Amino acid sequence: MEKRIITTDVTEEDFSLEGNLRPQTLDDYIGQEKTKSTLKVYIEAAKQRHDALDHVLFYGPPGLGKTTLSGIIANEMGVHMKVTSGPAIEKPGEMAAILNNLQEGDILFVDEIHRLNRQVEEVLYPAMEDYAIDIMIGKGASARSIRLDLPKFTLVGATTRAGLLSAPLRDRFGVMHHLEFYTHEELKTIIIRSAQVLGVEIDEKGAAEIAKRSRGTPRLANRLLKRVRDFAQVKYDGRITYDVACFALNLLEVDQYGLDKIDRRILQTMIVNFQGGPVGLETLAAAIGEDSGTLEDVYEPYLLQNGFLNRTPRGRMASALAYEHLGYQMPEKN
Ligand SMILES: Nc1ncnc2c1ncn2[C@@H]1O[C@H](COP(=O)(O)OP(=O)(O)OP(=O)(O)O)[C@@H](O)[C@H]1O
Ligand SMILES: [Mg+2]
Repeated sequence: MEKRIITTDVTEEDFSLEGNLRPQTLDDYIGQEKTKSTLKVYIEAAKQRHDALDHVLFYGPPGLGKTTLSGIIANEMGVHMKVTSGPAIEKPGEMAAILNNLQEGDILFVDEIHRLNRQVEEVLYPAMEDYAIDIMIGKGASARSIRLDLPKFTLVGATTRAGLLSAPLRDRFGVMHHLEFYTHEELKTIIIRSAQVLGVEIDEKGAAEIAKRSRGTPRLANRLLKRVRDFAQVKYDGRITYDVACFALNLLEVDQYGLDKIDRRILQTMIVNFQGGPVGLETLAAAIGEDSGTLEDVYEPYLLQNGFLNRTPRGRMASALAYEHLGYQMPEKN
């Protein structure tokens, strides 16, 4: 699979950047207003009671700020955060050890929590509910389980696939928040803030143009900002304006809607080779030389969500927006 600049998954080039650009307080965290205002209340209440926060689950697509929010919660609560992830913990004993090392009020952040295996997950049930773990000692007939008390801690889970979470685990979260895609206006604010942190000069129109092409995702907005900055430095006087942003993003082949050349090739193939469809997934995949799984899971969701293509029982169809965007005349229906 080709490496795409518009991917919203974290890439190598994001690592150095994201540390610096992560907002540290709720006030610096742009957008997600509903989530933010409820969290504010919960945090305030927990602090007043000198109590740990309820367990929180964040779910939603990559790059929308789940990890960032969890760090902010720890920061606002004034507690430590221990970070781990579903695939990193293989044995129940490892989870027990992590829990046992937490201090009163601490946050345990479990990224990709849907990927915890069943035995490890079972350690979490009593830990989340009763702040205790059951440990087996001895072997065979003399084996018995003893209960070990834990400090009151807060589990913050993050997942891109809430549907894959088991019901018993999901039910133990007091608070669940779905993170939404960001508006252009919100992304613009994030870009202007990031530019400040990076020490880059940018004007409103330049920021707005990058925002428009960022697929509703702060991670991508920051990555595009960084790429545009490099162009601004080398080809212009370092300042990002509308013209510089357009020039750079056009060269990177990220268009007005945040589509890249693969997205456009998919739509164009549907329009030119299949008269706009309906065309079956397998047929379309073969025509663009991709496997159907990748087409369905990686390329299609954004096109679907943004109305460029439609799924019908007879196959995929290019929408009027797709025709218009690629400059083709939509055939008359009769
Ligand atoms: N609300 C926001 N305001 C400002 N910047 C944000 C916001 N949300 C995310 N970001 C920026 O986007 C980057 C990616 O966010 P983050 O790593 O929290 O996403 P994520 O949801 O955890 O993604 P993944 O599912 O891949 O783990 C952060 O480094 C941060 O700079
Ligand atoms: Mg994350």
